[in-house]
This record gives sequence, structure tokens and C-alpha cells, in this order.
Amino acid sequence: MPLSTALSSELESRIASREARVGVIGMGYVGLPLMLLFSEQRFRVTGFDVDASKVEALNSGNSYIVRIPGSEIVKAQAAGFRATAAYAGIAEMDAIIICVPTPLDQYHQPDLSYIEQTARAIAPHLRAGQLVILESTTYPGTTEEVLVPILEAGNRSGLRAVRRPGETGFHVAFSPEREDPGNDTVARCDIPKVIGGLEPTASALASALYGTIFHRTVPVSSPATAEMTKLLENIYRCVNIALVNELKQLCDRMGIDIFEVIDAAKTKPFGYQAFYPGPGLGGHCIPIDPFYLSWKAKQFDFRTRFIELAGEVNTGMPYYVIEKTALALNRHKKCLNGSRILVLGLAYKRDIDDLRESPSLTIIELLRKAGVEVSYNDPFFPTVGRGRHYDLNMTCTPLENLAQYDAVLIVTDHTSYDYRRIVAESQIVVDTRNATKGIAATNIVHC
Ligand SMILES: NC(=O)c1ccc[n+]([C@@H]2O[C@H](COP(=O)([O-])OP(=O)(O)OC[C@H]3O[C@@H](n4cnc5c(N)ncnc54)[C@H](O)[C@@H]3O)[C@@H](O)[C@H]2O)c1
Repeated sequence: MPLSTALSSELESRIASREARVGVIGMGYVGLPLMLLFSEQRFRVTGFDVDASKVEALNSGNSYIVRIPGSEIVKAQAAGFRATAAYAGIAEMDAIIICVPTPLDQYHQPDLSYIEQTARAIAPHLRAGQLVILESTTYPGTTEEVLVPILEAGNRSGLRAVRRPGETGFHVAFSPEREDPGNDTVARCDIPKVIGGLEPTASALASALYGTIFHRTVPVSSPATAEMTKLLENIYRCVNIALVNELKQLCDRMGIDIFEVIDAAKTKPFGYQAFYPGPGLGGHCIPIDPFYLSWKAKQFDFRTRFIELAGEVNTGMPYYVIEKTALALNRHKKCLNGSRILVLGLAYKRDIDDLRESPSLTIIELLRKAGVEVSYNDPFFPTVGRGRHYDLNMTCTPLENLAQYDAVLIVTDHTSYDYRRIVAESQIVVDTRNATKGIAATNIVHC
């Protein structure tokens, strides 16, 4: 049997017997839960992260993600989990899964620096027969045009990626993460895992590995197809959210409740899927990923007009919220300048501890610029400091004495809030999420 075939069947049997060592790079919202899934299946997992505080927290049996209790980390430790910042350990891994950030830079262009740094760091330690999988969301072509060349250039023994079955080298695949944080209706293991290998052996090995933690794997013909699949899913969401955000503004002018319309429309058993309007897009995915594709499209002299238009509508939503808040104050003979407003919810969506790209941050900054004295409350964030795009430096205000605010602005509809009490005690409630549905009160402004 040729060396390459022997190595891949050895890896397959190590996966089946759970002897395969799994390395997950990036212990964030994606990598940490993934590590737990492999740990539950008795794999010995090593978590690699450049953030020393995360490595220390994990090795002390602690979690920094609210929905993951420390007890789960302790359980994983019992199954052999360790966190480290030392990349030399890559050589001991059989499979290496990369889950590092893929943000946009200040010019709204893909920032692949985290993937590039990771690739440079692991390249020297790669050995024949290993499987490298990229999970970070990115434009079609990243795996073959960016990841693989860096891995090959940096390898000490001149090892190359396997491009044809039978070759000797390391295997490479792309497999997008499809998690929906805070969504408890679908278990993570029930979300089918799309896999695009550089060649059939990589796909087969990645399917064997993911098949141990997911009920279904969906092999596609190439890494670029898998990369594009993830983008299609997120662009579909982005465009449909933009559509309802635009219709919300029209319905507002026409005196129609968009949420009532959506509830009625979704009774249709086919051809319609409900998307909900809100104060703007948030999170690491929907506001960012579509622009990875529009950037790449330019290389092909192509303009992705749906993405651009959706981006325009969605980024305009925080401004619409400010306009509606100003009109609400105006009805009480007040203006934004000099008023006191309490913003409810910093997280980009309900019941999660993630404020990346959250519209609350933009709304708070816009209110401040308009001369508003802003306070916030969010059970998940006792304080908020400085991020990539904001500098707020604020402390969470208790939900007390609500009448002191000229308006209370619901931006995130956390389930722990008592909306009846909030409406009863506030002068004006501006509701961007339909959180006050079913509450009849004249001080509610839907927006
Ligand atoms: N959060 C989600 O719900 C979600 C869903 C689907 C896909 N994704 C995609 O998954 C990827 C990761 O997202 P996330 O939300 O987990 O990000 P995150 O910021 O929560 O975690 C990324 C982790 O990578 C670490 N890191 C950065 N550079 C590193 C390096 N060179 N070596 C090792 N570790 C490094 C960071 O310290 C951090 O702990 C992104 O591409 C994102 O678009 C995220």
C-alpha cells in the first residue's frame, strides 16, 4: 500500500477508535463549543489560542461564554482537554480545525490576517497524513488561494497539500460553521456539516471526523463550493432582513403593524419564511460575511447589487431608530439634546453575551452625538468599554426608577425583562423588537 493511502486509512481508524488527537485553533464562540462536542465523544482535544487569559481560564476549568458553564470545561479536562498558546503541539495533532475571526477592516474589506497568522504559525509543524480544516467564514477561494500556499511555504520539510488521491502530504478541507447562538430549537449535532475537501481523501477524512459529532455530513465538490454555501446562507438572511426592515418603515407610514403582517404571512405552509425587522444587523456573521463576497466579486468584474442594497437598508436602521425616538420625544415637547434615555440591551440579539457589531453600540453613539445623556441596562454586560468600532466606557444601570428617563429604548429583547413593568413605569417606551406585543399602552412607540 502506498504511504499516502496507508496514512489516510490509519487516520480513519484512529478517528473511529477515538485515538485521533484533535486540535482546535481559536477558543471563541465557535471553537470552544466544537471542542466540547469532540470531548464528549472521548477525543483528546487541545485548544490553541493566542489570548493568554482564555488559555488560563480554560486550564483553570473556567468558561468565559455565558451559555457554557465551567463544569463542561472541567468535564472536557477529564477527557484530556488542555488549552495552550504553544503551536509546537500541532505536530502531535491528527486533525487541526481553524476557527479564528474573519472580520472586515476599516475599509470594509476582508481582513484575513487571523487566518494568515494561524497558517504561518502551524505550517512549520505540519507532517504527512494530518488533516487541516478551515471553519472560519470567508470568500470562495480562501482555502486554496490563501491558506494552502502559506502552509506549503512555511513547512520545514517542504511538505505539500494533497491535491490528488494517492499523493503524500497533509490533507486540507473547508467546512463552515453554521451555529446560531442562542437558538435552542436545533441541537448542534443536528445541523448538517458541509465539507469541501481539496480532493476526495480530504473530504472522506473530514466526513469521518465530523461524522463522530454531527448526525449528517454533506460533502461538496471543492473547498470553494463549501465557502460559497456558507455565504449563500448568510446573504439569504441579510437580504431578507433588509426586505422586512424596509417594509417596516413603509408599514409605519401606512399605519400597518409589520409584525402582525409577518405573523399572518407565516401561516402559509409553503414558499414563505419569516424574517423579522429590527434596529439593525449585529453579530460576527450577517453584517460582515456578505461583504466578503462582494469584495471577491470585484475580481471577476461583477457587482453584487443585492448585497450592497441590503447593506444600505440594514446600516440605515439605527438612524431610523434615532429619528423615531426624536419624533416620540417631540410629541412630548422634548428634544433629543439634553434628554435622558435608557437603552435596554447591548447584545446584538436576545439572551446572548455577544455585542460584536451590535446596533445598540451605534445607537448609543448616535444618541450621545445628539446630546442625549445615555444609560444602558443589559444583564449580560456589567460594563462596556472599548471595541474595534466603539468607545463607550459605561456601566450597567439598574432597572429602577424608570420614570426618571425621558424615554426607554428597547434595542435587545432579552427574555428576563418584565416588559409590562417597564411600560407601566416609563414615560415613553420606544420598542424596536416588538417586545411589548400584547401590551396596550399609549406610551409605546413601535419602531
Ligand atoms: N459566532 C458565531 O456565531 C459564528 C457562526 C458561524 C461562523 N462563525 C465564524 O467562525 C469564525 C470564528 O468566530 P468566533 O465567533 O468563534 O470568533 P471569536 O472571536 O469568538 O473567537 C476567535 C478566537 O480565535 C482566537 N485567535 C485569534 N487569532 C488567533 C491565532 N492566530 N491563533 C490562535 N487563536 C487565535 C481569539 O483569541 C479568539 O479566542 C469566524 O470566521 C466567524 O465568522 C461564527
